[in-house]
Amino acid sequence: MDMIIRPRRLRSSEVLRKMVRETRMDKASLIYPIFVQEGKNLEDPIPSMEGQYRYSIDRMMFELERLEKAGVSSVILFGIPAQKDEMGSGAYDENGIVQKALREAKKRFPDLYYVTDVCMCEYTSHGHCGVLCGHEVENDETLKLLAKTALSHVEAGADMVAPSDMMDGRVRAIRECLDREGHKETPIMSYAVKYASAFYGPFREAAGSAPAFGDRKSYQMDYHNKKEGLKEALLDIEEGADIVMVKPAMSYLDVVSEVAKMVHVPVAAYSVSGEYAMVKAAAKMGWIEEEKIICEMAASVYRAGAGIYITYFAKELARFMDEGRIG
Ligand code: PBG
Repeated sequence: MDMIIRPRRLRSSEVLRKMVRETRMDKASLIYPIFVQEGKNLEDPIPSMEGQYRYSIDRMMFELERLEKAGVSSVILFGIPAQKDEMGSGAYDENGIVQKALREAKKRFPDLYYVTDVCMCEYTSHGHCGVLCGHEVENDETLKLLAKTALSHVEAGADMVAPSDMMDGRVRAIRECLDREGHKETPIMSYAVKYASAFYGPFREAAGSAPAFGDRKSYQMDYHNKKEGLKEALLDIEEGADIVMVKPAMSYLDVVSEVAKMVHVPVAAYSVSGEYAMVKAAAKMGWIEEEKIICEMAASVYRAGAGIYITYFAKELARFMDEGRIG
């Protein structure tokens, strides 16, 4: 055969394949989500997320130790309060679950990096991401509480805050509040492009945060839209977001790719609870090879253009990277 260009030449050995690899990954880019709840000595398994737990603060420390050992140095904290109310007051209580967990974690593991999820839905009795006026989430009233929540997290030791509520103007409201209170250097990672997605199902079971009525479509994005995702990302950057996130990851890699091309800030992608649950369930049935799927999913996210990967598989990925199986 008279062929000059043979793409297979570069695939002939493992060493060569690794040499010409286009996507490289690093443990430093991984963020692991942790659920923390009130109580003592609790490590409650989350049924739809096998291998994930709701930790009480004391038991969370063991998980932080495991993460540090694995080389995963960043976490994002989600709080599950003992009580919820109409105004979500547990979100901005200085003795709220996340605030207490942060103080303890910073003391015990000061070298880890602590991001916090800033939202109301885990704290409101109705499960919506803001305060209600009738059956509608009142945008501007919610902004004040989100800013208050972010500030209380930072005062308790958060290194970075990540608003996930999808209210308009929240990045600016949080930035102004943090600046006013002397936290000019604390970065904001906004869940800028967050779709109204069924992939959050297992998380809502974990956090008991499913809305009591209606859905989140009046604030989270319609998954038919991509241009709107760019608008959200650019708007959040204008408002002061230091990092923008696309969420979920797997079914939204076109959006990750487009956003990564358009913006000049780091882009994060969040592989959410439903993505995790699907992998776990199929693996349990023996229908897929879990470890290979985890690697393939991770590579696709970085290949699309994300530089930061938030995933429940962070510890596994760190190990695969150490073993040279990926990255
Ligand atoms: C809070 C929040 C949610 C997730 C992250 N932050 C749930 C939601 O918006 O309903 C989902 C994370 C996951 O599914 O893993 N608003």
